Amino acid sequence: MEKLKVFKLINSLLQSGRTKYISLSNSNLQTIQRFKKEFGDLFYAHEAHLSFEIRENQDKGIFYLCDDLGIQNVIWRPLRENKTVGYNWPLLVELSSKYGKTQNQIVLNWMAHRGYKIEVMSKSPEHIKENWDATLFEMDDDDYQKMNEHRIDGYTYPKVDWNKTGEGISVSVLPDKFEENYVKP
Ligand SMILES: NC(=O)c1ccc[n+]([C@@H]2O[C@H](COP(=O)([O-])OP(=O)(O)OC[C@H]3O[C@@H](n4cnc5c(N)ncnc54)[C@H](OP(=O)(O)O)[C@@H]3O)[C@@H](O)[C@H]2O)c1
Repeated sequence: MEKLKVFKLINSLLQSGRTKYISLSNSNLQTIQRFKKEFGDLFYAHEAHLSFEIRENQDKGIFYLCDDLGIQNVIWRPLRENKTVGYNWPLLVELSSKYGKTQNQIVLNWMAHRGYKIEVMSKSPEHIKENWDATLFEMDDDDYQKMNEHRIDGYTYPKVDWNKTGEGISVSVLPDKFEENYVKP
């Protein structure tokens, strides 16, 4: 469907009252800007992936653009389905020990501190409490900086097909492809 037809469809849904706000997932910078121009404050949120390992959306400036435009950043699969913790990454081990929190709590706390809305899934009451409690403590500024700046040695980013040219992979599959693209140094 052409972009303009999409706008027409969404505008008719908004006018009919069947939807009040709109959001996007896994979009590129240009699409986010176009939607903001078209829908203003009704463009409420953008969902994108961020995890300790995968920083593509951070490095592309997606989160910063949404912050600048007043669009909520929603983070999907923040714990990489609990795979992150299996690596015992030294920074997470260090901060976990320093603050007496789990590694997953360190990751979620870092994201919450950035003002992101975290879409973490759990069916376990213990994990839900652990994840909620992750938002109830503060780390030192330099630890947040370390979390922001951390990149994984030995991880080669696959090319992402940001503009749907057919070259590269969708940004939405990056968290599932980490294991294929990581070689322990
Ligand atoms: N917009 C998009 O493109 C997109 C794409 C993918 C996913 N999503 C959304 O993102 C949300 C979360 O993604 P996800 O479920 O794929 O990944 P996730 O939230 O990173 O991981 C969920 C898994 O982690 C476990 N878990 C959660 N908290 C834990 C904790 N404190 N300690 C240990 N294990 C923990 C859960 O098991 P337990 O149940 O045992 O706790 C579950 O198996 C979903 O609602 C999904 O719909 C959006």
